[in-house]
Amino acid sequence: MERTAAGVASATVISSATPGDDPADGWFPESVAADYDSPGGANLPEVVTPAVAVLEDLADGPVLEFAVGTGRIAVPLAARGVPVSGIELSRAMAARIADKPGGAAVEVVIGDMTTTRVAGQFSMVYLVFNTISNVTTQDGQVEVFRNAAAHLRPGGLFLVEVGLPDLRRLPPGQDTAAFTVAPGAAGGYVGFDQYDVVTQQFTSNHVTVSPDGSGRFRRIPFRYAWPAEMDLMARIAGMSLKSRWSDWDRSEFTAESTKHVSVWKTAPSN
Ligand SMILES: C[S@@+](CC[C@H](N)C(=O)[O-])C[C@H]1O[C@@H](n2cnc3c(N)ncnc32)[C@H](O)[C@@H]1O
Repeated sequence: MERTAAGVASATVISSATPGDDPADGWFPESVAADYDSPGGANLPEVVTPAVAVLEDLADGPVLEFAVGTGRIAVPLAARGVPVSGIELSRAMAARIADKPGGAAVEVVIGDMTTTRVAGQFSMVYLVFNTISNVTTQDGQVEVFRNAAAHLRPGGLFLVEVGLPDLRRLPPGQDTAAFTVAPGAAGGYVGFDQYDVVTQQFTSNHVTVSPDGSGRFRRIPFRYAWPAEMDLMARIAGMSLKSRWSDWDRSEFTAESTKHVSVWKTAPSN
């Protein structure tokens, strides 16, 4: 599911009432995991390969992916010889990893990235595909930074890829920004984000109308944080900004950027 006009996907929305889904899997239960690796979108080689190339370049020893999902990034990174571990909330998502060629090399711990610890020290922790925004409180996001830092060796890196909220598209009095309007021959799809600029909460909303006229309205909650706020979270966790790019091509982060790939660094040992 694309969350923003920038095409930076964040989460596939589900109805929690879908039969067979385990509520413990959160927003990514079996009904979502089943389609997560479908060809196209975020699984296209031109999306995956640039991310994996940057992560391989930055890795200097074992790495840990927070919210590793189905191993979309972790498995190809491991295939390049980087030792990769992961933390993942959803058993349904994580179950896909071992089924992929080379996936058995990725060690996964089921848990919450705000609190779960994995044994060992890592050269880098990374958290991609907007998933920091799935943690919907400021305290929770700070804990993500603190937990990342706790897994890093001195001089280790924490990398986050996340879209920027579309606030510049909101004139006074408006709180929604459409990212997809796709009418079909019968039915169609409309996707829009709805922002609360006071609380920094937002929802991605998905209205799907089937050819028979029936419809479904699904929404998933997020919290946005401006890059400067993330720099402060990093500082709270004992890290400082090393790099900020507009995308995986390491292009300059500017006022027109729709996402950022940021890298913070823990202090080197004395
Ligand atoms: C958009 S997917 C990204 C998965 C993978 N990183 C990728 O790039 O394809 C978001 C994942 O984050 C997981 N997730 C969300 N909140 C989490 C949390 N607090 N701790 C661990 N995993 C979490 C979800 O279960 C889901 O698998």
